Amino acid sequence: MTGRIKVGLIGIGNCFSGLIQGIEYYRQNPSQEVTGIIHANLAGYGIHDVDFVCGFDVGANKIGKPLNEAIYEYPNMVDWIPKDSMPKTPAKVYESPALDGVGLWVENRIKPIESTKTDEELAKEIKGILKETGVEILVSYLPVGSDKVTEFWAQICLDTNTAFVNCIPSFIASDEKWAKKFEDKNIPVIGDDIKGQVGATIVHRTLAKLCSDRGTKIEKTYQINVGGNTDFLNMKEQDRLASKRISKTESVQSQLATRLDDDQIYVGPSDFIPFLGNTKLMFMRIEGRQWANIPYNMEVRLEVDDKANSAGIVIDAIRLAKIALDRGVGGPIKPASAYLMKHPIEQMADVKAKEDCESFVAGK
Ligand SMILES: NC(=O)c1ccc[n+]([C@@H]2O[C@H](COP(=O)([O-])OP(=O)(O)OC[C@H]3O[C@@H](n4cnc5c(N)ncnc54)[C@H](O)[C@@H]3O)[C@@H](O)[C@H]2O)c1
Repeated sequence: MTGRIKVGLIGIGNCFSGLIQGIEYYRQNPSQEVTGIIHANLAGYGIHDVDFVCGFDVGANKIGKPLNEAIYEYPNMVDWIPKDSMPKTPAKVYESPALDGVGLWVENRIKPIESTKTDEELAKEIKGILKETGVEILVSYLPVGSDKVTEFWAQICLDTNTAFVNCIPSFIASDEKWAKKFEDKNIPVIGDDIKGQVGATIVHRTLAKLCSDRGTKIEKTYQINVGGNTDFLNMKEQDRLASKRISKTESVQSQLATRLDDDQIYVGPSDFIPFLGNTKLMFMRIEGRQWANIPYNMEVRLEVDDKANSAGIVIDAIRLAKIALDRGVGGPIKPASAYLMKHPIEQMADVKAKEDCESFVAGK
């Protein structure tokens, strides 16, 4: 079964701006090969079959605007398509409850609306908007540390039979309690924490697995990331980072034959360098031992546009959630979560996750 996919967006920041501008880039350049995507076609769904029908944020400068304008509002900085050539859309941005979404370091950039509504009033209003716009899937790109907001939106999904794609490290699809709620209601959930296309996590995981599979003994490893957008600025607040560290560290640990002691592995977002903008730099080092206990080490420096890196993955997650809906499959979609997310309910080697995902798409 194919058709349109109606998607609602939570957190209209740089990631959604990149996703929407990327789709428009391919529309305006039809002869351009669709790069930066694993599957051009997934069970009949292409990248142009997605309709973004509404969005939710707390930024006073985004609420009330159509999506085609809101995605350019400060502090967003993706500018791949000029604002005036972005087609107009009737889809608007509505108010989300702030709860724990806005961190100390980013508050003066986000400038959240001074709300006059209670969270209950907003929940009622949101359910009405989802019904009116026909949303089938909600995708969350909230800031790191938004655990309460994520739970608010997970509950909205459960109350409205809406599938959920959770791109951030607040655990829902990988949390037994929440996963069961989605299972009981047979609603698909894919999460948690999007794994970039060629991002720090997948590169580190793959190289760690290679060293482990080749029989060397990994003794220690680190991964340091820096960037210059609000995502990195927000992550300067250490209290918001607990689940991000778990998500990124477990993603690497899960690929090793023998787990490293906690003090022999460091994986973390590390600092904000304003002039980097959406460029993310990753520095990774693995140290280990080979035959006759002889030491070796490797270092990698990766430079990527962080937003291009996530959009090519989330467009697959959206279509996989739709395929699950079409087929009446609910609960955590395990192969899709293992393939596309850093912290799935069940970690798999990436090659196996890709194969299982493709079997799922093929209906096997
Ligand atoms: N490669 C990647 O970009 C990548 C990879 C993995 C995870 N992520 C995660 O995706 C998330 C989004 O990244 P981004 O760069 O778009 O961040 P961003 O800071 O640009 O956008 C976050 C948006 O959420 C809004 N927001 C804050 N509180 C809210 C609330 N209570 N309700 C609704 N909206 C709220 C902000 O106003 C902002 O528009 C981050 O958590 C990031 O860590 C990104």
